[in-house]
Amino acid sequence: MRGMMLAGGAGTRLFPLSRVSSKQLQPVYDKPMIYYPLATLMNAGIREIHLISTPHDLPVFREVLGDGHQWGVDLSYGAQPEPGGIAQAVVIGENFIQSEPFTLVLGDNIFHGPIGLGREVANHDGGAVIWGYPVDDPQRYGVIEFDEFGAVLSIEEKPDDPRSHLAVPGLYVYDGTAVVRAKDLKPSARGELEITDLNLSFLNDGELRAVELERNITWLDSGTHESLLDSSNFIAAIEKRQGYKVACLEEVAFNMGFVSGDEIAHTIEAMPRSPYRSYCERAILG
Ligand code: TTP
Repeated sequence: MRGMMLAGGAGTRLFPLSRVSSKQLQPVYDKPMIYYPLATLMNAGIREIHLISTPHDLPVFREVLGDGHQWGVDLSYGAQPEPGGIAQAVVIGENFIQSEPFTLVLGDNIFHGPIGLGREVANHDGGAVIWGYPVDDPQRYGVIEFDEFGAVLSIEEKPDDPRSHLAVPGLYVYDGTAVVRAKDLKPSARGELEITDLNLSFLNDGELRAVELERNITWLDSGTHESLLDSSNFIAAIEKRQGYKVACLEEVAFNMGFVSGDEIAHTIEAMPRSPYRSYCERAILG
C-alpha cells in the first residue's frame, strides 16, 4: 500500500514560529516533527510515500528527507499551492495514488504504541478505515460513534454536544475511490475541502469502518504552542526513561528490513558526530 503525508497548511496557530519554518519541520524534542508520521507509515510496512506541502516549504523537505533511499523508502513530493483543505491534498495526490488504496497521515500527528496500522494495511479490502481515540475534550475534534463491529454510525465536526468521547486522529486508510470522492466535494464555509466530508462520503455508502485506539496508545497533535511543547516533553520523557528513541528512522528502516546492515552503517557514518549518531551506532550497529 502507498502512503501520503500532509505537511502543507498555514500553521497559523504556531505564528511566529511558523515564519521560521513549516510546522512539520519544527523540533519535537530531538527530531523534526515529520519524522514521527514517517515512522508511523514505515512501521506499517509502507515504502512508497508521497509528501505534500507548500511550494515554499517543499525545497526544505526535499533537503531534509531526500528521496528516502537512505531509509529504504521511495519518497516523492507534491505541491499544494494554497491550504485548500486536507481532502484537496488527496486530489493533488491523484497521480501518485493511481486509484490504489493508500494510507494518509497528517504531518503534525504523533502516534506512540501498537496502533495496529500494519494489520489494517495488510487486511484492507476496500472502503475507508479511520480511528477513534478517547479524549477529554472531544468538542475540539471530529467525533465518531461506531458499533461493536466497527461500523461508523456518525461523525460530527467539533460538536457542541459530542455523542462520544472518541476523536478522529489524522490517520486514514482509503481505497482508490477517495480521489473521485474528494473531487466531488464542495468547499466548506471556511473554503476548504474537508476530510470529514470525504469520510462522510464513505459513510453514506456504508464503506466506513472505525477502529478504537486503546488508551495505552498515545496520540498527540502538535499544532499549537502548548501541544508542541507537550509532544516534546512526552518524547523526551520516554526516551530518557527507556534509552530508546521514538521514530529514529534509521532504526525503523533497519528493523523493518528496508535496508541492510551495510547500508545503514554507511548512512550512519555520513552523519555528523552527535548524540543522534551515537544512538544509531549503539542501537543499530550494536
Ligand atoms: P491544521 O492543523 O488543521 O491546519 P494548519 O496546519 O494550516 O494549522 P492552523 O490551523 O494553525 O493554521 O492541518 C492539519 C494537518 O494537515 C497539518 O499537518 C497540515 C495539513 N494540511 C495540509 O497539508 N493542507 C491543508 O490545506 C490543510 C488545511 C492542512
